Amino acid sequence: MSLGLVTVSYIGAIILFILSLGGLSNPETARRGNWLGVVGMGIAGFATVFGPGVAAIGLPFIIVAMAIGGTVGLYAAKKVQMTQMPELVALMHSLVGLAACTIGYASRIDTSTVFATAAEKSIHEIEIYVGILIGAVTFSGSIVAFGKLSGKIGGKPVLLPGRHWINLAALVVVILFGFVFVGTHSAFAAGFALFVMTAIALGFGVHMVMAIGGADMPVVVSMLNSYSGWAAAATGFMLSNDLLIVTGALVGSSGAILSYIMCRAMNRNFISVIAGGFGSGGGTVASTASGGPVGEVSPISAAETAELLNESKSVIIVPGYGMAVAQAQHTVNEITQKLRAKGIQVRFGIHPVAGRMPGHMNVLLAEAKVPYDIVMEMDEINADFPETDVAIVIGANDIVNPAAQEDPGSPIAGMPVLEVWKAKTSIVMKRSMASGYAGIDNPLFYKENNRMLFGDAKKMLEEVAKAI
Ligand code: TAP
Repeated sequence: MSLGLVTVSYIGAIILFILSLGGLSNPETARRGNWLGVVGMGIAGFATVFGPGVAAIGLPFIIVAMAIGGTVGLYAAKKVQMTQMPELVALMHSLVGLAACTIGYASRIDTSTVFATAAEKSIHEIEIYVGILIGAVTFSGSIVAFGKLSGKIGGKPVLLPGRHWINLAALVVVILFGFVFVGTHSAFAAGFALFVMTAIALGFGVHMVMAIGGADMPVVVSMLNSYSGWAAAATGFMLSNDLLIVTGALVGSSGAILSYIMCRAMNRNFISVIAGGFGSGGGTVASTASGGPVGEVSPISAAETAELLNESKSVIIVPGYGMAVAQAQHTVNEITQKLRAKGIQVRFGIHPVAGRMPGHMNVLLAEAKVPYDIVMEMDEINADFPETDVAIVIGANDIVNPAAQEDPGSPIAGMPVLEVWKAKTSIVMKRSMASGYAGIDNPLFYKENNRMLFGDAKKMLEEVAKAI
């Protein structure tokens, strides 16, 4: 393939990626957006592999590697449960980071490039240094995020004494070694500087994500998403590949925008989240400043729930992670249809961090064919709870926790939540009194107008649907 054709293919792929991002911003066009991305990536891969950048002798190796990687990817995507998706994404981010590191080291070892000026050589060295730095942070941070999201590592923040000083010292050393790496004529000194920086960056990635408390994980996940984009862009600079630079920048900036949106949704300051130690997590019942909620909970049966729903005029459904675990979205849709057929107004209230990944609930509800126009964002629906007869919470916990508003000592204090307790009756569906991802108790369960429908969400909803 000639260079001209490769350039044209790259431009086509970039346009498809931009259209893909546009499509992914809305559930109705997300499927098409996904396909545009797939086609763009196919064109990009084909043009790169068969372009002038790959020598004929290397082609068989690349094709075998692609076949192996493609098979592993296909197997993982087919096997993964919807609830494990965030872990898989975190793991994939780690691969982008690892690729940036290995390509950085390969570029360093490769002495075949001839630089016209000393400045050009220095720029290439800075690209290598920064590329490995971002790649290493992304790699180790994503591995820890994978561990936290899959429950292999506890959600409790690990806060080292003087952690901010440790981070600051690490930053200073990394900058100093950067000057050594670019300035020195000694291959040993340059290699040593690169090696020390890589070790520090790997340690920083672990330290940064370990310090994040349970409820703040969404910010970290989207931030690592952004890092993986910048790592890819850095790889693009190292390889002088324009497509990688643009694609990396697209992922990097969209991830950064998402992180900002997540921070706003959780009323958090971006820097404070990164600095660590905001949310807490881990235990099943963490105590709060006021000593934790006390009182008795009032259970309700599926038949009584159906009766309440039948008698109501307006219902708001709040789904959470438990709906994803139980795969209850289809039964939720069935109940929605039944109630709507009786003339009852049914709407959904979606919290920005419900579930375990951005848009988690929207994807599940779209899969079950819940009409988009009754699925509302938190800000659109929160004011309507006082005029609502029944608010039904399906496997959600942290996102409906009144402690965020009522208890300034709570780890989630200040985080906006769906105010389900303001409805005439709220019904919480879950299996036990266990806490949610943030590991804190929920005073909602003890409120006078709240009922608990204990059991697996799908099973209980099927009983409710039958009774309706
Ligand atoms: P959670 O607070 O995690 O609560 C989910 C609840 O579902 C649990 O309390 C659990 O209680 C219940 N549950 C689990 N399996 C169930 C089943 N089969 N049937 C019925 N109930 C079941 O979820 P949420 O309210 O959606 O809040 C999300 C949390 O995850 C937030 O803290 C958020 O910060 C965090 N997070 C979000 C993201 C993104 S990007 N969305 C990423 C990482 C972390 P039982 O065990 O008693 O059943």
